[in-house]
Amino acid sequence: MAKKPNVRSPKSAACPSHPSRPSRVAAQQDDERPVLLITAGPTHEPIDAVRFIGNRSSGKLGVALAEAAVECGWKVVLLMGPTAIPLPEHKLVTVQRFVTTDDLAKLLKKHQPSADAMAMAAAVADFRPAKTTKADSAGKIKRTAAGLTLKLESTPDLLAGCSARRDKEGFSQVLVGFALESKAKLAASAKDKLQRKGVDAVVANELGTMESESITASVFGADGSVTKTPGNMSKRAFGSWLMDIIEMLVMERAIATQHDAEDEACGCAECAG
Ligand code: CTP
Repeated sequence: MAKKPNVRSPKSAACPSHPSRPSRVAAQQDDERPVLLITAGPTHEPIDAVRFIGNRSSGKLGVALAEAAVECGWKVVLLMGPTAIPLPEHKLVTVQRFVTTDDLAKLLKKHQPSADAMAMAAAVADFRPAKTTKADSAGKIKRTAAGLTLKLESTPDLLAGCSARRDKEGFSQVLVGFALESKAKLAASAKDKLQRKGVDAVVANELGTMESESITASVFGADGSVTKTPGNMSKRAFGSWLMDIIEMLVMERAIATQHDAEDEACGCAECAG
């Protein structure tokens, strides 16, 4: 099936941080630049008007990736959860904030159609409080001597949802997920997520990455490839390293999309098969 052409194929120009890799810095007008949609940071799921369930994600990896993408000539839409870190101020970066999984789901629905690649680094909550606990008129749950049992419900899997929407709508952007796991389970978990979420690549890194300034990671590709970082890297250097892989995946998709379109236009039995 021919896909909608929302994957722009890279043109050759030198990326300032990586002269060996194709980039579009000098080659394109702003509206021709490929778009990277990044999710980063935690979600906060409200328990009542003043309390929430959250996690310790800083969002630093998303910011580092946004900076690297801009350096390589991409436009970036950065969807950032509730964190206090400094955000990029650049004409090629649009920042939109979310708090809950539902907020992020709405932003993804809006921005997915125009994205050429999506890097889903947000630490989305797996569970959120179900709306069963009674609050007072100000929306606050009162302390009682009996304590409190919270009922949690699962959140929707946003990455899997983006993958399903890509298939349904005929989008052809590259989808990259992240897996944060203990060292022993890292590879198995990444391979499982790759399949279960229907994405092009999963970046697997250890639990310690969440609050660290540096990262050691392996990227598991849907084609069976495994690419490891050359040791421990700063998150900023990792951003450039990962952009190499994302640009490669975008290039491969653009070529596949073009072949699909050519096959469809040809219409002969061999191409249709
Ligand atoms: N993710 C998502 N929506 C969720 C949970 C996770 O989109 N509700 C995305 C994350 O942004 C990340 C990837 O899925 O890119 C993996 O996140 P993780 O929490 O490790 O995924 P789970 O599916 O919850 O994995 P597990 O079953 O191992 O907890």
